[in-house]
Amino acid sequence: MEAYLLEWANLFFRWFHVIAGIAWIGASFYFVWLDNSLENPPQWKKDKGIGGDLWAIHGGGFYEVAKYKLGPEKMPENLHWFKWEAYTTWLTGMTMLWIVYYIGAESFLIDNSRLELTQWQAIGLGMGYIAVGFAVYEMLVKTPLRHNGKAFGLVLFSFLVFMAWFASEVFSPRGAFIHVGALIGTIMAGNVFLGIMPSQRALVEAVQRGEAPDPKYGAFAKLRSTHNNYFTLPLIFIMISNHYPMTYSHELNWLVLSAICFILAFARHFFNLRHRGEFKPSILVIAVIMMAGVAVWIAPKPVEVNEEAVAGFTDQQGMAIIQARCASCHAASPTQAGFASPPAGVMLETLDQVNLLKPKLVEVINSKYMPLGNLTQMTEEERQQVIGWLSK
Ligand code: HEC
Repeated sequence: MEAYLLEWANLFFRWFHVIAGIAWIGASFYFVWLDNSLENPPQWKKDKGIGGDLWAIHGGGFYEVAKYKLGPEKMPENLHWFKWEAYTTWLTGMTMLWIVYYIGAESFLIDNSRLELTQWQAIGLGMGYIAVGFAVYEMLVKTPLRHNGKAFGLVLFSFLVFMAWFASEVFSPRGAFIHVGALIGTIMAGNVFLGIMPSQRALVEAVQRGEAPDPKYGAFAKLRSTHNNYFTLPLIFIMISNHYPMTYSHELNWLVLSAICFILAFARHFFNLRHRGEFKPSILVIAVIMMAGVAVWIAPKPVEVNEEAVAGFTDQQGMAIIQARCASCHAASPTQAGFASPPAGVMLETLDQVNLLKPKLVEVINSKYMPLGNLTQMTEEERQQVIGWLSK
C-alpha cells in the first residue's frame, strides 16, 4: 500500500515538475530570443526611453513588444515577474529527488560496490553534495573572474567535471547523474533567487524613486541569466538520461556525462549566435560529429560467451538464476520493498517472458546495469552463465 501511494506521489510530482520546467525554460528561451531579436525602434519610441522593439504574430493576434533601455518613467500598475516558474521547478524537483532517490536509496542511490552507505548516510551525502557544489558556484560568481566569460566557463566546467567524477565514485550510476543534475538545477534556481530577483528589485525601486537605475544591476542579472542559458540543454539531457542506461552505466560515466554536457552547451551557443543574426552552422556540425564520437566510444562491447561456463547449462538452471537475482523486482507483484509494480514493465517469472526479451536482458546484465545496484548480489559466474545461456 505504501509503495502504491508513493507511486502516485511520484506521478503527481513528476507531472508537476515537468510542467513547471516547461514554463520556466519556455519563458527563458522566449526572453533570450526576444532580447536577441529586438530592432531599432522609431524615434518617438526612443524619446520615451525604449531601446528596442519588435512585432510578432501568435495565436491570431499582433503583439508589439518594447524593451526600455533602463526603465519606464513611471512604474506600471501591473508588472509580471516570472519567478514562480523557477522556484516551483526547483521545489518539485527536490521532492522528486526524495521520492525516487532518497526514499528508494537502497535501489537507486547506493551502490555498495562503490561505497557502502546506510540510507541516512547516502541522503546526507547527497544533500551535502548539492549544498557544497552550490556554495562553490556562489563564491566563483562573486569573484572578478566572472567578467571573463571564457575563463569563467573553463573554471566552472572543470569544477563540474570534478563533481561528476566525485558523484560517480560514491553513488550508483543513476544516482550520480541525478545529483549532477540536481546541483545544476539548484545553481540555476539560486541564480534567480540570489541574483536575478534582487537585481530586478533594485531596478524597480530606482524607477519608483524616479531615479535612473544603476546599469550594474541589470548587468549582473544578465550574467547569471546567461549562465542559466548555457545550463539548460545539459540539464534537460540529465533529466531524461535515466531512461538511457547506455549513458550512465558506462565505466567512465562521469566522463560520458561531461562530454555530452559540453557538447550540448556548445550547441546552445549556435542558437545564441543565430538569434543575434550570426549564422554559424559549423558549430552544429561539430557538435553532431562530437556526439557521434561519443556514441561510437560508449557502444557496448561484443558479448564474450564463456563456452565452458554454459556447456550443459539447462533452461531450468537459467530460470533459477533469474528467479533468484531478478524476479524479486521483475514480477507481477514484486517482493522487493519499495516496488509496487514490475519496474519498466519488465516481468521475468516465466521462460516465455524471458525469451521475449533476450537481447535486452543480455545488454543490461552485460553492462552490469542490472540487477539494479546489484542488490540481489549476482555473482560474476552467474552473469557469464546467464549471458551464455541467453545468447545461445
Ligand atoms: C532491485 C530491483 C531490481 C532487480 C533485482 C533487477 N531489476 Fe531490472 N529494473 C529495475 C528497475 C527499477 C528498472 C527501471 C530502471 C529505469 O527506469 O532505468 C529496471 C529495468 C530493467 C530492464 C529494462 C531496461 C530498459 O532499458 O528499459 C530490464 C531489461 C531489466 N531491468 C532486467 C533485469 C534483469 C535481467 C535482472 C536480473 C539480472 C534485473 N533486471 C534485476 C529494478 C530491478
